[in-house]
Amino acid sequence: MSTLLTELSNKNPDTKGKVRDIYDLGEKLALVASDRHSSFDRIIAEVPGKGKILNLMSKFWFEKTKDIIQNHALEYPDERTMIAKKCKVIPIEIIVRGYITGVTSTSLWTNYKNGQRDFGDFKLEEEIKKNQKLPEPVVTPTTKSNTGDENISFSEIISRNIIEESLANKIRETALKLFKRGQEISESKGWILVDTKYEFGLDENNQLTLIDEIHTPDSSRFWRLSSYQEKFNKSEEPEAFDKEFLRLWFKENCNPYSDELLPEAPEELVKKLAEKYQEIYQSICN
Ligand SMILES: Nc1ncnc2c1ncn2[C@@H]1O[C@H](COP(=O)(O)OP(=O)(O)OP(=O)(O)O)[C@@H](O)[C@H]1O
Ligand SMILES: [Mg+2]
Repeated sequence: MSTLLTELSNKNPDTKGKVRDIYDLGEKLALVASDRHSSFDRIIAEVPGKGKILNLMSKFWFEKTKDIIQNHALEYPDERTMIAKKCKVIPIEIIVRGYITGVTSTSLWTNYKNGQRDFGDFKLEEEIKKNQKLPEPVVTPTTKSNTGDENISFSEIISRNIIEESLANKIRETALKLFKRGQEISESKGWILVDTKYEFGLDENNQLTLIDEIHTPDSSRFWRLSSYQEKFNKSEEPEAFDKEFLRLWFKENCNPYSDELLPEAPEELVKKLAEKYQEIYQSICN
């Protein structure tokens, strides 16, 4: 494998995602997780040690969930690198939420606060509070697009022929099982897995396969379990493992949606984020 790593280091990636450098190895991909940190659909900082944590956390969770669904991971030649089965990507992101929260335009809390109760595949009752646990986890897919993700219900996914009904049902069912497993294991380590995003693909035999990353702090929200209830009762924000504070700094100090050049994030904020990634990784994966 070390020859492969030497080879890769001499090549330019075939694709550069916001976070991962991707090398096309034919039937496989080498996904190299960098320390790049994205928000607002762009890179806003370099967070030391983050790439390694994303890769190793995914490794942990892929192992813990492989009885629920097969995944793309094949080998881990180094801490940042995953060799994965190249799949045909299903062009929707499957978001599962156990709690109602968030501040962006696609978040459940934003839409609920603005009066929405019917979410296509499910309805929510009156008088739910921000950060409240939902009676049952809900699945809210979004389209995967370069111009900003949009919410889309499973009924629309089927009626617009994006994927077949049986496949859509299988994806929904699988995502809920994965989330349940994620919540159980996180809880046993003192964390609430609040919400997360899954990506699926089809392998060479057209088998549904879990791809990309799983239950990392880039794709998920985690709250500290021990302080959640007390803070919720006092209408305080949970102790969040969150990219939010860095996002807020950018919003206050520039226009991250339109400015061509962004200011550099303050060192202490980046350091704090790196520490949070490290803490959650150590605590869940050891
Ligand atoms: N097994 C796989 N087969 C094909 N594509 C994959 C596989 N696993 C992950 N991918 C794709 O590789 C990319 C991972 O790179 P990265 O995490 O940097 O992307 P991103 O910034 O989240 O998304 P993007 O830049 O595509 O908007 C994603 O586009 C993901 O859909
Ligand atoms: Mg990604």
